Amino acid sequence: MLTKMQKVISFFISLVLATAFPIVAFAQRGESLTVSELRCEYLINPLAIDTREPRLSWQIDSNARGARQTAYQIIVATTAASLAANKGDLWDTGKVASNETIQIAYQGKPLTSRQECFWKVRVWDQNDKASSWSKPAQWSMGLIEPADWSARWVGDKLPSVENVSATMLRREFKLSARARRGIVYASALGVYELHINGHRVGDQLLAPEFTDYHSRTQYQAYDVTSLLKPGANAIGAVLGDGWYAGSVGLAQMALKKKRNIYGDHPRFIAQLEVELADGKKERVVTDESWLTTREGPIRSSDILDGEAYDARREMPGWDSPAFDDKSWQAADVASNVRTTLVAQPNEPIRVSREIKPISVNEPKPRVYVFDMGQNMVGWCRLKARGAAGTTVTIRHAEMLNDDGTIYTDNLRAAKQADTYTMRSGGLQTFEPHFTYHGFRYVEVTGLQTKPRPDAITGRVFHSAMTEAGSFECSDPTLNKLWQNILWTQRGNMLGIPTDCPQRDERLGWMGDIQIFVGTGIFNMDMAAFLTKWMRDVRDAQAEDGRFADFSPHPFGKDKIFTGVPGWGDAGIVVPWRVWQQYGDKRMPAESLESGKRWVEFIRSNNPDLLWKNKRGNDYGDWLNSDTLIYEGFPSKGGQVPKEIFATMMFAYAADLVSRMAQVLGKDDEAKKHKQLFEDIKAAFNKAYVSEDGRIKGDTQAGYALALHFDLLPKKLRPAAVKYMLEGIDRYKGHMSTGFHSTYRMMLELTSSGHNDVAYKLINNHTFPSWGYSIENGATTIWERWDGYVKGRGFQNKGMNSFNHYAIGAVGEWMYRVILGINNDDAHPAYEHFVIRPYPGGGLNWAKGTYDSIRGKIHSSWSVADGKLRLDVRIPANTTANVYVPAKDAASVMESGKPASTAAGVRFLRMEDGAVVFLVQSGSYSFEARH
Ligand code: BGC
Repeated sequence: MLTKMQKVISFFISLVLATAFPIVAFAQRGESLTVSELRCEYLINPLAIDTREPRLSWQIDSNARGARQTAYQIIVATTAASLAANKGDLWDTGKVASNETIQIAYQGKPLTSRQECFWKVRVWDQNDKASSWSKPAQWSMGLIEPADWSARWVGDKLPSVENVSATMLRREFKLSARARRGIVYASALGVYELHINGHRVGDQLLAPEFTDYHSRTQYQAYDVTSLLKPGANAIGAVLGDGWYAGSVGLAQMALKKKRNIYGDHPRFIAQLEVELADGKKERVVTDESWLTTREGPIRSSDILDGEAYDARREMPGWDSPAFDDKSWQAADVASNVRTTLVAQPNEPIRVSREIKPISVNEPKPRVYVFDMGQNMVGWCRLKARGAAGTTVTIRHAEMLNDDGTIYTDNLRAAKQADTYTMRSGGLQTFEPHFTYHGFRYVEVTGLQTKPRPDAITGRVFHSAMTEAGSFECSDPTLNKLWQNILWTQRGNMLGIPTDCPQRDERLGWMGDIQIFVGTGIFNMDMAAFLTKWMRDVRDAQAEDGRFADFSPHPFGKDKIFTGVPGWGDAGIVVPWRVWQQYGDKRMPAESLESGKRWVEFIRSNNPDLLWKNKRGNDYGDWLNSDTLIYEGFPSKGGQVPKEIFATMMFAYAADLVSRMAQVLGKDDEAKKHKQLFEDIKAAFNKAYVSEDGRIKGDTQAGYALALHFDLLPKKLRPAAVKYMLEGIDRYKGHMSTGFHSTYRMMLELTSSGHNDVAYKLINNHTFPSWGYSIENGATTIWERWDGYVKGRGFQNKGMNSFNHYAIGAVGEWMYRVILGINNDDAHPAYEHFVIRPYPGGGLNWAKGTYDSIRGKIHSSWSVADGKLRLDVRIPANTTANVYVPAKDAASVMESGKPASTAAGVRFLRMEDGAVVFLVQSGSYSFEARH
């Protein structure tokens, strides 16, 4: 929320900027701004918002250089017609002098449940010329008060033990007139699909997604107006076990049971609210009037194990009126459900693309193996013919055995198998409902004849975040690496950020996302997704302040997987990153207290500020070179001693808590935690760092992390860099780092002037390297550098995922260093940013984009004939420091003119072999001798 004072200050700042950079004057009069990308709480036209001051944002666009917004007006109306007539009967800001386009909190008439809000924006440019109004957008308020729900949780009396069929629910109702508006609010303890009048409602999968159901359960809202009709109607749902009642990763280890972790009775809740054309209001809610059966076609479903579907049991018309439901029973209404229903704040899980197999083989008689050509996450659609009663089994695997059969050992206890039993008739099409699989290969058995490749279609699904980045360069291996990282992200973002999508794990491991979040945000717009997941993180925090190792933490707040250095810290690192990238103050605001509790937990158990006590399962710098199977390098010596690793993470957490407090204007908290950071740093140096700068253990990782977290006295930094380089030499030019330190070492190599070594590491094709896994067939990022080696075979089957994003965190280095796109902490959310590419590593060119919350940034460079060309695009209303690698400013041209005189460009300084220009918004083409 911008206070009046903040608005005045921000206007004042924009005036100062305008005076300081007279270059804005070139933005021609007459050319004005266009406004688009209207979002409410990061979402496009959301149907259920449950915060009372939702935040609005938009983007502005202009071809002119130096285009700026100097004022805006937002109108919010109760009807589309009022909005069209410019009547802001909910909120009319009038003309607000401000350059802000994001995170603007609604301050109009108080909003109540169900309120429809129609809105639009116009802005004024630097010449005080108004834009046209944006296209209208809208949001609706959800059910804010618990009393808004008159629906009850329904299901049946059968406990959902192993292999239990899905529950089907239905009810008919009458409408006396045409519906003007019909919204269904629905959710489940389990997973569900909603149906109305013979149609599946919405395209979301696995709703309501994975949360700690004991604390909160998300509901979804659907606009069903067009499905309703006067007279008889029917509403129904299919309810599967999902994470609530089905299997959950690691449950067997933690609780000695695989299933029923949250409960053993899946439940469904729905509230249909209809406004009729004649002005009447109707409500249809789940209660004892609903009917239920378990006789439907989904005979069992499980997230990890797959689904069994018997088409002979389909009940055509079950979701339409006039269906014979005499054999169905009255629903069981639960009165003991303890959960809080909240509106889903993140994009739903949806199919994003389909994949066709590239081949089908028959390694054994009647065993058909399809190769999708890509390790993917989702499921398959099968089209096949067969006699009634024929059962086709589809199993999913990431890799093949040498004989061409599928390799499933690394799935551990997850079955990932679907079965379809055919009904009579010709060609039949099947798809599962309440499961998902991670796979590249699909084994089909039970067919009488060899299927054509098009019998199978891969349906890829994940949380439907918009993809925000692109990357391409002259090296095909790096392009493949970038693609592999993106595919791995797609495969591991299903409501929560998971470690892997295939074996019996698939949990929101916090260490993994803590390091991947930077890459993740460059690749996709993760603001809404991380808003959701940070709630899971706080829900899982133990009373004593320990964050869980993964969130949700289904095994009880205090149990087993809690409090580990490098994992728990995600509770602080992730909100900090969201603040930097999206300027989202609510993130630090919501996370400060929990962050402080985590830091205090560590401090109170370790009064000498070295994290010796209470490190939970203490994974350390996970998967460092000591855990690899290879020959020819030192077999030990990669692992930074765990106590040192932990102490460094402790310092980092204290530092970020201090920064978050600073952002929130809590100066005392900020100071206190800054002091704690300094004290940990002093203790760290005293205990682990010798006078010549050697850190105990003498590992690449130790130096990389100490440099990255600023834990060394300035005078020892050069020595640390030297030892880090020596460490790389000891490994014959390879990394010995674990997943916490790998990409951080890449960034430290670049910033310490050794970018050539960073390029060498990313260009390596020998073990261990990203190139090595690509040469061995990787289409996603592997958990281990040597998950599979041609000739040698597979790594330890107990832990060998082929779809694990952790070491793909190097994507952040690719964006920041190869493309050079960097945020500036002093100006969050790319209001001002840095473009600083480092041509090198044998690359002739690289180009890419990042769709920031304020608009799309481009950076593209090429080197040829002794010349470097750098093309950049700076979104309207933003500025950037652009670093052009060159010896002197005079030799840099922009669109054919000396750069220093070009419109929109101002020379700032020389820095480390680059000329630094302050550049206003617009497109620019720099050229320099190289
Ligand atoms: C997961 C990791 C995770 C780790 C904790 C593994 O089983 O797959 O990615 O961070 O456990 O050490």
